Amino acid sequence: MANYDVIIIGGGPGGYVGAIRCAQLGLKTACIEGRGVLGGTCLNVGCIPSKALLHASHSLHEAQHNFTKMGLMGKSPSVDIGKMMDYKQGVINGNTAGIEFLFKKNKVDYIQGWGKISGKGEVTVGDEVYTAKNIVIATGSEPSSLPGVEVDEKIVVTSTGALSLPKVPKRLVVIGAGVIGLELGSVYSRLGSEVTVVEFLDQITPGMDGEICKTFQRSLKKQGLKFIMGAAVQKVETTKTKAKVTYQLRKKGTEATIDADVVLVATGRKPFTDGLGLSEIGVEMTDRGKVQTDAHWQTNVEGIFAIGDVIAGPMLAHKAEDEGMAVAETIAGQAGHVNYDVIPGVIYTAPEVASVGKTEEQLKEEGRAYKVGKFNFMGNGRAKANFAGEGFVKILADATTDRILGCHLMGPAAGELIHEICVAMEFGASAEDISRTCHAHPTYSEAVREAALACGDGAIHA
Ligand code: FAD
Ligand code: NAI
Repeated sequence: MANYDVIIIGGGPGGYVGAIRCAQLGLKTACIEGRGVLGGTCLNVGCIPSKALLHASHSLHEAQHNFTKMGLMGKSPSVDIGKMMDYKQGVINGNTAGIEFLFKKNKVDYIQGWGKISGKGEVTVGDEVYTAKNIVIATGSEPSSLPGVEVDEKIVVTSTGALSLPKVPKRLVVIGAGVIGLELGSVYSRLGSEVTVVEFLDQITPGMDGEICKTFQRSLKKQGLKFIMGAAVQKVETTKTKAKVTYQLRKKGTEATIDADVVLVATGRKPFTDGLGLSEIGVEMTDRGKVQTDAHWQTNVEGIFAIGDVIAGPMLAHKAEDEGMAVAETIAGQAGHVNYDVIPGVIYTAPEVASVGKTEEQLKEEGRAYKVGKFNFMGNGRAKANFAGEGFVKILADATTDRILGCHLMGPAAGELIHEICVAMEFGASAEDISRTCHAHPTYSEAVREAALACGDGAIHA
């Protein structure tokens, strides 16, 4: 029996960041993780491995398509998928080991095993019972299932299987044109698969700015991805080596099939609370199966908090991390805070897509008067030099006050550029504030400044 100020269940980005912050604030802290390695979905089977494969496959694309244009001659590289997976695993190992080191450095106790809340202020792991004044549930999420589709992680895979395929499939069918489907679909497309994405809605990446969705889909089509839109997948039948996907076109009501060597099911994720004992201790859940919390991440049971994918909000690592820090500060008696209006979203394809704040569709629905400042990367010298002139920056600002309300980008390093806007929004900045800030030349960031100028008297290089 060990007594703690805080026990955090789950060692993903929510849990491990929360644990480190608790320890930094002087709280005696333990973090329980069942998968045998720290880092959660994000480091082991999510953000980090997918970004490693995106980087590797984008490098191949550069070698195949742009090297000779720059006078870099010679045979373009071929794909050794085994070696690529070794590289990916090395990246995972380096990152997860780093967290263990951080735990030691910050004196966070790392308890290996599956935790169950066995009573108020009590967590059981195997035969061991630990007590704590505060318990934080940070158990994350898992892929959601689809009726009529049985996942075997060989032919019908979730993102986890898709991140470890032993060979590049000839035909990959992706169910769902969300973030996972498009990131991993574009990885295998660049590695040589014929990729078809089957999407229920008429638009890819639901919830994103409509203009970005259209331009992004056009770009992916140009890269070779095929789309079947407005199609509800009914079932997937498999043989030992192949699959047949049956879908219904929603408008026509007709059924059709498509053959595949591998099918990736990417239709969303659901909160993971199995074996935690939440119903026994009376923790309230939402009707979507998430842990219900108040504005301070506390559940209806005093002393039990929850953060990350397991609660409401976008399922993003940085949202989980921010909540991890904020809940630690709250438990320590400080004013933990997360600004849910300024959480960026990034899709790490090439070109990248990034957004923060309101979309045009949301502003129209709210009836808010706004103006649009847009700038195409084709007018940006750095982007043109790097064969990265596709896409644009779009800033949405209040029509009267010029305050920035949102930003939507598709283009080179969009996932980095978006943070200039995040900081600006945190400070309540206007588009003019950005346009009057000196931006180094030649940088992609100049495109952000030009979009801000376009909210006023006009961009210079448009
Ligand atoms: P998790 O990371 O899921 O961690 C929860 C941990 O809790 C797990 O390790 C689990 O084993 C452990 N656990 C569960 N129950 C127990 C228990 N009872 N006892 C002990 N341990 C337990 N987000 C981004 O922001 N950027 C990206 O680029 C990105 N890419 C992604 C790519 C893929 C393929 C996937 C699947 C997800 C991606 N995400 C990305 C989402 C991101 O991974 C999640 O939002 C993030 O990991 C959530 O963090 P978390 O701490 O809430 O949960
Ligand atoms: P998602 O919610 O982004 O997309 C799922 C898609 O599947 C939707 O477009 C939906 O309309 C479609 N769909 C649902 N049922 C269907 C059916 N029967 N037939 C055809 N299409 C169907 O979910 P996804 O891509 O699985 O990602 C899960 C979570 O992981 C996301 O919430 C995301 O935030 C996170 N993630 C984030 C990344 C990033 O930040 N770069 C990368 C990968 C994942």
